[in-house]
Amino acid sequence: MRVAIIGTGYVGLTTGVCLSFIGHQVSCLDTDESKIKALKDGHIPIYEPYLTDLIEEARTNLTFTSSYAEAIPGAEVVFIAVGTPPTPSGAPNLEYLSQAARSVGQHLDSPFTVVVNKSTVPIGSGNWVGSLLRDSVEQRQDKTLLEFAVASNPEFLREGSALHDSLYPDRIVIGADEQRALEVLYSLYRPILDQTFSAPTYLPRPETVVAVPLLSTDLASAELIKYAANAFLALKISFINEMGLLSERVGANISEVGRGIGLDSRIGNRFLSAGIGWGGSCFGKDTAALIATAGEYGLHLPIVEAAKKVNSRQRDRVVEKLLNELKILKGRTVGLLGLAFKPNTDDLREAPAIEIAQKLIDRGVRVKAHDPIAEERFQREYGHMNVHLCKNACEVADGCDALVLVTEWAEYRDLEWEEVAKKMRHPFLLDGRHSLDREKLTRAGIRYMGIS
Ligand code: UDX
Repeated sequence: MRVAIIGTGYVGLTTGVCLSFIGHQVSCLDTDESKIKALKDGHIPIYEPYLTDLIEEARTNLTFTSSYAEAIPGAEVVFIAVGTPPTPSGAPNLEYLSQAARSVGQHLDSPFTVVVNKSTVPIGSGNWVGSLLRDSVEQRQDKTLLEFAVASNPEFLREGSALHDSLYPDRIVIGADEQRALEVLYSLYRPILDQTFSAPTYLPRPETVVAVPLLSTDLASAELIKYAANAFLALKISFINEMGLLSERVGANISEVGRGIGLDSRIGNRFLSAGIGWGGSCFGKDTAALIATAGEYGLHLPIVEAAKKVNSRQRDRVVEKLLNELKILKGRTVGLLGLAFKPNTDDLREAPAIEIAQKLIDRGVRVKAHDPIAEERFQREYGHMNVHLCKNACEVADGCDALVLVTEWAEYRDLEWEEVAKKMRHPFLLDGRHSLDREKLTRAGIRYMGIS
């Protein structure tokens, strides 16, 4: 099938590459010409494991363009995957979405096109995009032969494992109020639903994946599924962090508690790792948007609101623990291991490291940091913050009164802890992710503390 994808951010690019890999003809469009030029030259604007390899394999089915006139005509499916960044009220900014819908409407030319909202959009946006498209098509001379339908197809991919999550998803959700649209999307995703494509060697098909469930539903339900899924995952993490605080007081081990409750299959063991809380582009934005949407209907969502509060308290707990240990923070040096909001990405959106660094700087602390991938981006986006970036963990440790493990990059697990200890002024490490071996560090002479 011929497919156009508007927006080459995380979601758009991953979707485009995966659909071209399974055999569709995909045109990826971005109005940022420098981004398109870079993609044409083989430079990938995001860090995502195996993305370069998959693009290479899919190359013959994949084109990049900045022109709607090139991408849209002939496309049977058009995905809109533009950014919907949060506004100060928590509601997402829909300007890019509106521009994309209007431009798509000006160039549609297939007898029937399905326009799919892939961006995370407020409930009701499907209808709104439909009306923008209709307005745009109405203004055309050649409108009589054009038919289109709007669908919602939320993504559930995690950064760092985006390709795996797209090729082997837990489920595919499609929402549309027209049966024809659901049928087109069913054909589009069939190779993934039936798992008939040959798996790339570097992304082998998990043994448990034989077929992928499809949920076909109405537009509003598909839109709400996306928000509800992210809110639920976010509150699962906040719940374990709340238990972490209590477990600290009663002398329990939160990792054991997490394991113990996660073995109940009704609860499940994922997203129960306690630590400094969630960050990233989705959980914060989507919970805020859900609260804002509910507000438009005069509703409060106390559970979602509490999940946010608990998450923000986790950042404060880092500062409290450092204060307890060091007594005075002013004039101290604290080193952060990791800047990205989680390992295997260079994404810094709502990264706990930024908030923690700022809280420490505000208290007169000198902050040093290292990240294997995200330093360049940090320099570009947060260069003004006065965080001293280092080449490796040992360099961070040099002269530090405390280290905080913020992002659980694999390479931090096996550091030469004796070396690290020797470099520190005060050998203390706060493990914000419960990812290090307490005994190893203690043997090396480092006082180890978990976040709960
Ligand atoms: C998330 C959702 O998982 C994905 O389905 C959605 O479509 C987009 O948002 P992502 O933001 O890429 O994906 O990262 P994810 O792996 O979900 O982690 C989010 C945050 O939660 C990270 O900061 C991570 O460190 C934190 N986290 C995750 C925990 O603190 N504990 C956990 O047990 C799991």
